[in-house]
Amino acid sequence: MPKTQTIKRLTCVLAGIMVFGIFLLLWPEISLAEEPLYVGAIKCKGCHKKEYAAWMKEKHSKAMSALNAEEQKNPKCLECHTTGYGKAAKPTAKLENVQCESCHGPASLYKTTKIMSKKKYKKDPKKAHQMAVAAGLIEPDEKACIQCHNDRAPTFKGFDFKATIEKVNHKD
Ligand code: HEC
Ligand code: HEC
Ligand code: HEC
Ligand code: HEC
Repeated sequence: MPKTQTIKRLTCVLAGIMVFGIFLLLWPEISLAEEPLYVGAIKCKGCHKKEYAAWMKEKHSKAMSALNAEEQKNPKCLECHTTGYGKAAKPTAKLENVQCESCHGPASLYKTTKIMSKKKYKKDPKKAHQMAVAAGLIEPDEKACIQCHNDRAPTFKGFDFKATIEKVNHKD
């Protein structure tokens, strides 16, 4: 085989390896930008003491204790008695009970100081809110509740959004 052809082939292989390497380097960024992950309520506690304390007094924060030991392993119960069940989460996230992200959406992208910044919310609350929504924040409306408060729940006796929203929106 002539020498120049070998060099050409080698260059081709090297270029291929480099393209693959760059792809691997960028991969975490790409997947992160697409999919927010569940992080767990403990990550909100430091910045949202008031909401955290209010939530701790609600049944949502103790939803696992409504289940017996066997039910606590049953995917058919965990779906609504935990947070983000079966969805992408940080490996260390503790997601038992109905936590903040069940209503507000998976937080890995919006909970950062780049988005949830006191300064930005003070300066332009509307824009800051829009950025948070773009990063995955959900505005909790009736739809957010009905994911779980529906007739697939074995204890379901109907759900009245207007009558119950005040119990969970941390307003008092
Ligand atoms: C580094 C601090 C910090 C962390 C961590 C944080 N937040 Fe926030 N969050 C803020 C600030 C600052 C605001 C702006 C309003 C304010 O000053 O309370 C805000 C606003 C919000 C709002 C209202 C946003 C809007 O636009 O309507 C929600 C809902 C919220 N946070 C939920 C969460 C949840 C859920 C978590 C945990 C997964 C979390 N935050 C983690 C600092 C933080
Ligand atoms: C579709 C969502 C959903 C599923 C699936 C689900 N639950 Fe629940 N569960 C709820 C909701 C919402 C409540 C609170 C309000 C209600 O009872 O409708 C609740 C409440 C409960 C309560 C407390 C009832 C009370 O009156 O205090 C028990 C016990 C319970 N669930 C057991 C289970 C068991 C056992 C399973 C699995 C076989 C299960 N749930 C599956 C959503 C669900
Ligand atoms: C059952 C659903 C639910 C859960 C769980 C929940 N929230 Fe909320 N949260 C709401 C609703 C509803 C509002 C009011 C939204 C509105 O007025 O537009 C709200 C509002 C907020 C706000 C905006 C500021 C305010 O007080 O109005 C923050 C911050 C917040 N929640 C943080 C949290 C944190 C942190 C947790 C967990 C410790 C949490 N929430 C758990 C439903 C929930
Ligand atoms: C991820 C599932 C899930 C979501 C989302 C959810 N809930 Fe619940 N909710 C539950 C479960 C499970 C219970 C029962 C907890 C228990 O009895 O231990 C419950 C209990 C309650 C209770 C009874 C609390 C008490 O103190 O008696 C109220 C009120 C309630 N939910 C309102 C809401 C509202 C309003 C929303 C939407 C803003 C909402 N929930 C969203 C699963 C959910």
